[in-house]
Amino acid sequence: MIKKQSKTKKPDAKPKVGRVRPKPRAKADVVNKYAGGSWAYTQIVKDHFFKPRNFLPGDIKTAKYDAEGLVGSPACGDVMRVWLKIDPKTDKIKQFKWRTFGCASAVAATSMLSVMVTEKGGMKIEKALKIRPQDIMKRLGGLPNRKIHCSVLGDKALLCAVNNWFKKTGQLDRVIIEGGRLIDPATKVTEADIEEAVLEGAVTLLAVQKRTKVGIGNPACIPQVEDLIRFYKEKYFGPEK
Ligand code: FES
Repeated sequence: MIKKQSKTKKPDAKPKVGRVRPKPRAKADVVNKYAGGSWAYTQIVKDHFFKPRNFLPGDIKTAKYDAEGLVGSPACGDVMRVWLKIDPKTDKIKQFKWRTFGCASAVAATSMLSVMVTEKGGMKIEKALKIRPQDIMKRLGGLPNRKIHCSVLGDKALLCAVNNWFKKTGQLDRVIIEGGRLIDPATKVTEADIEEAVLEGAVTLLAVQKRTKVGIGNPACIPQVEDLIRFYKEKYFGPEK
């Protein structure tokens, strides 16, 4: 006789698996201000990363260029090198060549900067030095906030090369000294230290103090520190909305 199978569910039977609802995604810690989302590189960024403009490969014939600038990023240890050709009659930058050990964002941002500086017959030095990271971001369609310090590398190397040009050509009155101003004599924190802290994401007084100890024993400098935080926050991350 065939035994009828019981329809009763065995107590140890596996529960029926229904449609599993995905857990809500954690809020992205990196936001691309212009393109939205996180870590999403725009097509323009990818294009400049895979086909960097004005990148200088191989052996470099330094003598071909009028000026050279070299900077490193304390945030990540990467290095950027820039070579310029400048027309002394018009003060225009005719060539902007570069190479870097930096990441994809540094490559794309410097590639775009080199285009901006040399397009339409070249930019005057004064105008080129006014290009802000936000201007490069706009042309790239955005970068994740955490990568903004990478975009600053090309900018700083450009300033370094321009200063090199001023010194080589005896225009010492035009040399630009940045960031060396002492803000807190007690802790020896300079303007450049605060800029660096902001670039690394410390955008409140407390966060900057955590990194630098600025103003902890010298509250008189705090208003100045707050002004600098505001200034660099806007310079690198755009105006608050
Ligand atoms: Fe170093 Fe981007 S992480 S240049």
